[in-house]
Amino acid sequence: MLFSRIKPLEAILATAENKSLRRTLGAFQLTMLGIGAVIGTGIFVLTSEAAQKAGPGMMISFVIAGFVCAVAALCYAELASMVPVAGSAYTYTYAVVGEVLAWMVGWALILEYAVGASAVAVGWSGYFVGLINSGLGIHLPLWLSVGPNEGGFINLPAAVISALVTGLLILGTTESARVNAVLVSIKVLALTVFVALTLPVMHKANFHPFIPNGWGTVGIVGAASSIFFAYVGFDAVSTAAEETTNPQRNVPIGLIGSLLICTVFYLLVSAGAIGAIGAQPVRGLHGAILLPGSAQLAQRCQQIVAGGAVQPLACSHEALAHVLRVIGDVGVGNLLGLAAFIALPSVVLMMIFGQTRIFFVMARDGLLPPVLASVHPRFKTPHVVTLLTGVVVILMAAFLPVGTLADYSNSGTLFAFAMVAVSVLVLRVKDPNRHRPFRTPMLWLVAPLAVLGCIGLYIKLPLVAILVLPGWGAIGLLVYIFYSRSRSYVGRGIVEVEPLEASPIPGLKE
Ligand code: ALA
Repeated sequence: MLFSRIKPLEAILATAENKSLRRTLGAFQLTMLGIGAVIGTGIFVLTSEAAQKAGPGMMISFVIAGFVCAVAALCYAELASMVPVAGSAYTYTYAVVGEVLAWMVGWALILEYAVGASAVAVGWSGYFVGLINSGLGIHLPLWLSVGPNEGGFINLPAAVISALVTGLLILGTTESARVNAVLVSIKVLALTVFVALTLPVMHKANFHPFIPNGWGTVGIVGAASSIFFAYVGFDAVSTAAEETTNPQRNVPIGLIGSLLICTVFYLLVSAGAIGAIGAQPVRGLHGAILLPGSAQLAQRCQQIVAGGAVQPLACSHEALAHVLRVIGDVGVGNLLGLAAFIALPSVVLMMIFGQTRIFFVMARDGLLPPVLASVHPRFKTPHVVTLLTGVVVILMAAFLPVGTLADYSNSGTLFAFAMVAVSVLVLRVKDPNRHRPFRTPMLWLVAPLAVLGCIGLYIKLPLVAILVLPGWGAIGLLVYIFYSRSRSYVGRGIVEVEPLEASPIPGLKE
């Protein structure tokens, strides 16, 4: 019963063939797209949170999170090459394990995208506040620059940037491949300069003790669970499969290539940050471990700075710019801040855009009210769903700390990734002879590793973030039972094979 409503793969593929989005993206552009979606608040900001949990051992955390993403990406690649249509994990699960689980995945993706967008907005805000302070001498008061948890009232810059991005999406901004390429270059250049300036001034002593807090929730694996956010976004590559030339070859290259490049960057950047200024966790007066994003940590950080000491890495809201300023490169630090200021909003845009696309596909399947897919008469954009998503993103960005938001986002993403891995396995058993342009190597090892990796990271998230997934899932299940189930097109026997050229969702076009 649970698995009885499956959207036939043929119908999904026919929809893809009917549609007229031009196939223009090659392996290189896809890799750039992946890097563009991946590099963001994770490395630019959450490096501080990782330091607070794992100290220098955060390098191991980056490897663990990167490994889990790599095995999940290999599973994504098989499905993306077979089912090269929009909707990502939601569409795959609909075709393989059925409507209920697909609904749950789509519901969890709301956490990934909408909450993730807020996290990136808050990360951007840290750089904005630091930049206007260091570059222009304008000091934004604390009550306007961070949320209540960190001793402020409202994170105004984060709310404003979320509102601006929402407005742009309603007006019909499309992120063109060309703009994306420029922004990726800015980010990659900023990180390269960071590595070039910090590696030569590394001190071996800064790597000791290497694992100050052990391996637990507030230690190496806990940091990996949070820093996992730094890798989120590579699935954007799979959602662009419809616009890819030779997707069978190029999607896997784009997925795995972008992940590999990001992992190498993250390792070099974290080594540079640790080596240059140290990354030991900030402790309470009696040596107590303080949690990132907590009022206690914020207070302790203020005390340290008020006492005349250099702000520790774990206290900074603009980790990488801070490192450069501390080692004396104030101007370059400001330029790096400027790079983040320019480039991070595109990650917010990608995530809100991804959210509207998921909603759109779910509404097209009859699982969400059709009004969500309604199009503005003048702007030709799905203004209702964009506005709805935007308001939620603005509110969360205004009041919650970046690490908390990233952890909530991770809990949804880890669930979606695990479901994708399960779907690949199920499809291999159910339909072994279907043509698979890309076959996940050693699937029976890789997919279980992906599932176990996701579970392992999930259970090391902070307790509230762990509870967010079942709580949010329960709400989703109620919506499904009382609204979507009876309205589902598949459930009502209407399997649509429709052209998408009328899709109101702006795509990645030239
Ligand atoms: N990986 C993206 C970031 O770190 C979401 O901002």
